[in-house]
Amino acid sequence: MKLLVTGAGGQLGRELVLYAEAQGSDVVGADRSRLDVTDADAVADVVSSLRPDAVVNCAAWTAVDACESDPDRAYRDNGTAVVQLAAACDDIGAHLVQVSTEYVFDGTSSRPYRESDTTDPLSVYGASKRAGEHAALALGDGATVVRTSWLCGEHGSNMVRTVLGLVDRGVPMRFVDDQHGCPTFTADLAPVLHRVAAERTGGIIHTTNTGARSWYQFVREIVAADGGDPDTVSPISTAELEPPRPAQRPANGVLDGARMHELGWPPLRDVPDALADLVPRLRQR
Ligand SMILES: NC(=O)c1ccc[n+]([C@@H]2O[C@H](COP(=O)([O-])OP(=O)(O)OC[C@H]3O[C@@H](n4cnc5c(N)ncnc54)[C@H](OP(=O)(O)O)[C@@H]3O)[C@@H](O)[C@H]2O)c1
Repeated sequence: MKLLVTGAGGQLGRELVLYAEAQGSDVVGADRSRLDVTDADAVADVVSSLRPDAVVNCAAWTAVDACESDPDRAYRDNGTAVVQLAAACDDIGAHLVQVSTEYVFDGTSSRPYRESDTTDPLSVYGASKRAGEHAALALGDGATVVRTSWLCGEHGSNMVRTVLGLVDRGVPMRFVDDQHGCPTFTADLAPVLHRVAAERTGGIIHTTNTGARSWYQFVREIVAADGGDPDTVSPISTAELEPPRPAQRPANGVLDGARMHELGWPPLRDVPDALADLVPRLRQR
């Protein structure tokens, strides 16, 4: 399989390029300096000259709070760019894999979100990512949207890295106990994205590691995986955050993995197993 990975400088893009190379795929990882996905001409040129079997779009403006004050940039990077990628993929018959987020939901559901549930984003980031979903899904069978949540990995900034830094500096840790979701480790997500690209699955798929928890509970697990005392972490509510965050987050961001199950694909590892791998790797860096 010949694969083009956009946003290859980010934490997920880097992991996917390494995984695809290890699988023997012919992979081109394009970071922003090689391909700015908002440049329609550049997108058309790169896709038509490389002629990949699939494009996995890992590029996005992921600064959730900053998106609130610059919606134009958010929609350009996360929405319009996907329109352009979709057109370029359509021209050559490449499958588009668009990575999306639980932030497309409003978080009011009393159960985990299914692929078929109605989206209703609370934030500019979520709305711009939903625009990207729509652009990809307009291709019909030519695209798959993979929604995921709480990404952590070896190659970028994420909650695991942040917590290890706080532990090192002895900073008191207070984390919200009223926002729930599923951590997802890029090392476990990359094989799913690769498979979606190879099999041209189509539709929407929710993929996260196994087990929902609050940020507070997750941070306790990170501290424990680092050999520390989880009781050094205290719970707070979102309302107690000082200063309040500009973007509203879904209280329930838990994604139901029914489609993965229907496809007969194995669930991703339990979070403690993934943390037992990742924390020592980050400590060795
Ligand atoms: N992080 C999470 O918790 C999370 C949760 C759910 C879903 N997702 C989704 O997962 C995907 C990957 O996220 P991530 O965590 O890997 O984010 P990331 O580390 O911020 O990587 C995103 C990459 O996209 C690049 N990028 C932004 N605008 C671009 C443009 N116009 N052209 C080309 N590249 C551009 C960024 O480059 P610069 O650094 O130069 O800006 C960055 O290297 C995104 O679709 C995101 O929405 C993330």
